[in-house]
Amino acid sequence: MASLKNGQNLGNGSPSMNPIAWRIERMNERVRSAKEQDLYLYLQAADEVDGAYVTINGRRMLQFASYAYLDLLGHPKIRAAAQAALEEFGPGTHGVRVLAGTTRLHVELEERVAKFKNAEAAMVLSSGYVTNLGTIAGLLGRNDVVISDKLNHASIVDGCLLSRSKFVRFEHNDMESLEKKLAEAPKQSGKLVVVDAVFSMDGDIINLPEVIRLCRKYDAMLMVDEAHSIGVLGETGHGILEHFGLEQEDGIDIKMGTLSKTIPAVGGYIAGRADLITYLKHSVRAFIFSAALPPPAAAAAKVSFDVIEEEPERVKKLQGNVNYFIKGLQERGFNTLNSETPIVPIIAGDDERAWMMAKLSQDQNIFVLPVVSPAVPPNTSRLRANVTVGHTLAEIEHAMDVFENAGKAVGVLPA
Ligand SMILES: Cc1ncc(COP(=O)(O)O)c(C=O)c1O
Repeated sequence: MASLKNGQNLGNGSPSMNPIAWRIERMNERVRSAKEQDLYLYLQAADEVDGAYVTINGRRMLQFASYAYLDLLGHPKIRAAAQAALEEFGPGTHGVRVLAGTTRLHVELEERVAKFKNAEAAMVLSSGYVTNLGTIAGLLGRNDVVISDKLNHASIVDGCLLSRSKFVRFEHNDMESLEKKLAEAPKQSGKLVVVDAVFSMDGDIINLPEVIRLCRKYDAMLMVDEAHSIGVLGETGHGILEHFGLEQEDGIDIKMGTLSKTIPAVGGYIAGRADLITYLKHSVRAFIFSAALPPPAAAAAKVSFDVIEEEPERVKKLQGNVNYFIKGLQERGFNTLNSETPIVPIIAGDDERAWMMAKLSQDQNIFVLPVVSPAVPPNTSRLRANVTVGHTLAEIEHAMDVFENAGKAVGVLPA
């Protein structure tokens, strides 16, 4: 790191130092500068998480940044399952799945996921990120083509890059653009289309019926990431096929999801045909060479799927909260893009406005976070507000008042 000392003139765009050291210094400079302005809002440590509230540095704030869509973290049945697994198997497995890491709980979780997703089989991995990365890389080779929505999650993008196949992107949720890319792909190549069900920054929903039709027309396989649609979409929270009434017809070859959003654990899954899962369990490096899920997480995840089915009123109430929140924000004059889900972008425009709006909201004890470029396109920096079933309508109303005041203070809304 000695060369960091040479980096005094770094900001002038002509690094005379090691470019890696320059990159490190530049990032540190950005973080330092945000902290000096009291605008650094990331990595804040919670002392307590209690339903829709979080306590940080002694301050209890209403949570609008969590993925706890169905408020399951404190569910007694799920906690009891995790505790029993801890007693029975301990906190870890000391092994990868194919060697010493598989317990009865892992097998039961995979069977439960398969049943929930109406699939023949499933496999679970240690995170949703790793699931996308490993599965896409494990499926594709140099002569294949992967066609991905431009707003797909980073883990899909990274999986496409790692696969070394031809990586093609189509315009966001634009079916003409998807068809063009499919038509351009060499006829004899293996083709995989990958889409998010719910887009993680915009909260909108993929046009699944049309994607399925096009995949069939061009003989492409289809992978759908349901990280934000399990427990959220469909009358009983079973996800995007239920949302569009396509359960019988199906049409998704590779059903991916996480165990870290609606499901209050950690991990990711793939569900699909038994032969697909057998293939993946013997070719995905992230499965073969990485430790198994901790048993308490596997047990908690398994019981969570039961709870979603046993308590369908949670899904119904969530959908009511989503409609109330989006309508209220739009009536106040905010641009929420095309969100129809609990992920609601509140567009601020430039990065500074997004930072300031988040800071002003947190000062009023609403915990919300900004998302700025390059994570989202320039001039669409935003608050990324997540509404959950844990919020009462009065709490949603109060949060919207706080956002409105913050929006007026920074010029996003007229004063
Ligand atoms: C669409 C999508 N896919 C995958 C992931 C990764 O999941 P995990 O956090 O479980 O690793 C995320 C995480 O935010 C996501 O939003």
